[in-house]
Amino acid sequence: MKKIAIIGVGLIGASLGMALRRNGLASEVIGFGRSSQNLEKAVEIGAIDRFEATIREACVGAEIVVIAASLGATASILREVGAYVTDGSIITDVGSVKGSVVRDARLILGAKFDIFVPGHPIAGNEKSGAEAAIPDLFKDHKVILTPTSDTRIEAVNQIEKLWTELGSEVFKMSVESHDRALAMTSHLPHLLAYNVMNTLLRQDDSQLLLEFSAGGFRDFTRIASSNPELWADILLMNKENIVKFCGEYKNSLNSLTLALEASDRQRIIETFSSAKKARDSQLIVDKKEIMKDLVVSRGGSLNGVVGIPGDKSISHRAVMFGAIADGLTRVRGCLMGEDVLATIEAFRSMGVKIDTRNSDCVKISGVGLRGLRSPTSSINLGNSGTSMRLLAGILSGANIDATLEGDSSLSVRPMGRIVYPLRQMGSNIQMSGNKTSPLRVKSARTLNGISYLVPVISAQVKSGLLLAGLYAEGVTRISEKGRSRDHSERLLTKFGVKLDINGNEVSLDGGQSLTGCDITVPADISSAAFFMLGAAISSDSEILLPQVGFNETRNGVVEIFRLMNADIEVRDQNVSSGEPVADIIVRTSNLSGVNIPQELIPSAIDEFPAIFIAAACAKGVTVLRGAEELRHKESDRISVMADGLRNLGVKVETHTDGISITGGNMSGGLIDAHGDHRVAMAFAMAALKASGTVSIKNAEGISTSFPTFFEVAKSAGLRIK
Ligand code: S3P
Repeated sequence: MKKIAIIGVGLIGASLGMALRRNGLASEVIGFGRSSQNLEKAVEIGAIDRFEATIREACVGAEIVVIAASLGATASILREVGAYVTDGSIITDVGSVKGSVVRDARLILGAKFDIFVPGHPIAGNEKSGAEAAIPDLFKDHKVILTPTSDTRIEAVNQIEKLWTELGSEVFKMSVESHDRALAMTSHLPHLLAYNVMNTLLRQDDSQLLLEFSAGGFRDFTRIASSNPELWADILLMNKENIVKFCGEYKNSLNSLTLALEASDRQRIIETFSSAKKARDSQLIVDKKEIMKDLVVSRGGSLNGVVGIPGDKSISHRAVMFGAIADGLTRVRGCLMGEDVLATIEAFRSMGVKIDTRNSDCVKISGVGLRGLRSPTSSINLGNSGTSMRLLAGILSGANIDATLEGDSSLSVRPMGRIVYPLRQMGSNIQMSGNKTSPLRVKSARTLNGISYLVPVISAQVKSGLLLAGLYAEGVTRISEKGRSRDHSERLLTKFGVKLDINGNEVSLDGGQSLTGCDITVPADISSAAFFMLGAAISSDSEILLPQVGFNETRNGVVEIFRLMNADIEVRDQNVSSGEPVADIIVRTSNLSGVNIPQELIPSAIDEFPAIFIAAACAKGVTVLRGAEELRHKESDRISVMADGLRNLGVKVETHTDGISITGGNMSGGLIDAHGDHRVAMAFAMAALKASGTVSIKNAEGISTSFPTFFEVAKSAGLRIK
């Protein structure tokens, strides 16, 4: 347990102290502040153990110093904290503008800048002072950390751990993204709330107006009760962003006023409707909350046309290749799930303009092979293994410095498989001692092409190496023991790159540039697989899945389901943007168990959670061997699926490289999806056949690949809550 000093014991500082003490996360919390009366109150309500008269004394022995004073005072506090902080300690802050704080900290802290972890809990209210403290103010709230590439990873990890232990959800982003986002979502609304309030006060009959102010006025102006000095400082420190948004706001207010004057009802309705649509769908943010715990009642059937979102693998590649291409790339049907959004954010932080305002057509202004800039802070790729392994390849050649990290699941996934061959090519890339992320890439002089046999069949490794090969001198030749998905090969060809493909071997010449193009992403067969499963195992079902990607390196699930006797019809096969697509129709089926042919494993590698549920509903035993790789996905899918199936009363035997499942009756039960999207969706479908309710916890991962799963499944007939 750590001694923690809090400089500035207002609402945020005192709430933090209280939470730390109540959760037993600090051996002692020492406060410092300007008002001794406020500090005494803080001791009285249990927010701090004691307080000191100077910052110097407060810092003695403190392992973490939290600056929670007003933004205007942060620079002078940093000067003192920087001088007195003990070796090995960490400094962090809670300020709601990060650019100015990070700039000051860099100048003031000098060599100690690497122990400063800039932070911002998105919590609080219009009240101030220690007496307003709320012990669980941060629980279930977001905390943004904006570490720079100079910040020590261990320091970031410790601060992340601290907030996580207080129940907060920690996000990392660049200083610039943070300040822009907060300018729009917090700073501009404050400015407007003060202003609307004053507009009312300027009226002669303001008293009367106030008396009759309705809920709308009260909701809108709640934040005008906030501390004026504090908010003046916040707005001044982020003024560039805010002034820009004010300009845009003035323009739109003007055109709305003109529409009113002209009694242009249609225009007003259109303006309001687009705002309403966006406001309603903003619940996507809360949807993650909703999807944390899913409850699916037993029974039901699936029917109708089921719209499946864009293919995740292809969407990642379209964004990445577009970013390093010359010219504009337009991506239609791009999956806007969290994994692909992580890829988009990563390239934005490296200076690529990506316009997602119209999510039906994402526009990427490519910067060319050598146009990426070093990001100012580490790149967080969330749950996305594809982003990390493919980016490792691009960054190795891009001549920039960057750190790639991810969430707790991605942080334990094996990275040696991509790091070692990249090093053979001359990449200056480091990983952690456990051969996992974070990956740190520093600019290397030149890469050289290699001939490499990938020891595990992996499209991510193959693709990462081919991308590095674009930057290398000579030929890069990658071979595999089986055939992994070939989206990179198809899409690189569309971007004008020449590749030689010979069975399981693909090679390309270094130095080739990419040319921006238009891409239409097919529906994701991996997401469609859950609905194929659902329709096959439930009674009276018939669904149509239109324009699903039907690439033969991906459609193993259809072959396996057919081997299990599923009623699947594939219609209207054609090609879109170089990728085979088809309409898939699935009807209620009588499934039987099978020995899954090993050669089908690579082309069904992501669909085994769905296949295992099908096996549990089938007559007889289904056996899968030779699939150890499943233990290294978003979760250990052999053990997590086996645990879940056993909870539903299914007989299961696990092997290091597979599983045997005896089909029969399935009961209801509680499943832990361990944050794995595909485990969660597979068990949601199991409820169609189970004899009781299936509850799934830790299902929030669904938003990484299928953010609309809840609505789509519900309207198809799943009894999901
Ligand atoms: C993917 C490749 C596969 C797959 C993953 C996406 C890709 O991983 O499991 O979901 O887009 O290249 P591996 O390369 O580890 O097999």
